[in-house]
Amino acid sequence: MSLKAIIFDLDGVLTDTAKYHYLAWKKLADELGLYFDESINESLKGVSRINSFEIILEENNASKNYTDREKEILANKKNDYYKEMIEQLTPNDILEGIVPFITEARNNGMKCAVASISKNAPRVLELLNISNMFDYIADAALVKRPKPDPEIFLTCAYALGCKPDECIGIEDAQAGIEAIHAAGMKSVGINVSVTSVAPDIPLKSTAELDFKILSRFG
Ligand code: BG6
Ligand code: MG
Repeated sequence: MSLKAIIFDLDGVLTDTAKYHYLAWKKLADELGLYFDESINESLKGVSRINSFEIILEENNASKNYTDREKEILANKKNDYYKEMIEQLTPNDILEGIVPFITEARNNGMKCAVASISKNAPRVLELLNISNMFDYIADAALVKRPKPDPEIFLTCAYALGCKPDECIGIEDAQAGIEAIHAAGMKSVGINVSVTSVAPDIPLKSTAELDFKILSRFG
């Protein structure tokens, strides 16, 4: 197999933090009298914090009611709620199949990295107690261009000392699948709501992850 590395998204792939993002945005939206529901939350997957708030405001035709500074302060407020909520995460919140999959990949000499645009990724990984399973964890604060730009996946490949075509990316968001393909990597999708390009290997859940399926990539 010519594959040398697996690059994982975090939210929705290693653990299901979407519910906490939802609850934190919902709390802020309720305070501001903005409409927000699970379907809007779905469109925030893989989207940066500030762009997520912009989407919520646009859904409410309220973007022009806030200055950029006010938007930043309010998005930070959501983050305070989120940070408080994720403190309840434990290793029991690692999604099914993830630990055996990473263990087998590592036993087969594969390097592993995390490509999450969440600035809370290091804390989430720490709470899940899996930080040491990864050779590299991208620093979201240094990423200039969010997914679907390939920057974060290319940064991981470079840090692992691998060429893009030696890496596969695993993502649950459409923007993430586009980023993986733009990086020149193969993709595995976890329950992706496909609106444009489909993952090379679409799976319904992480429970279907099996190291053997990677042999399909040659
Ligand atoms: C992504 C999530 O992983 O991280 C998005 O899918 C979230 O919902 C984004 O907005 C940024 O996360 P954070 O923790 O930096 O606000
Ligand atoms: Mg995700």
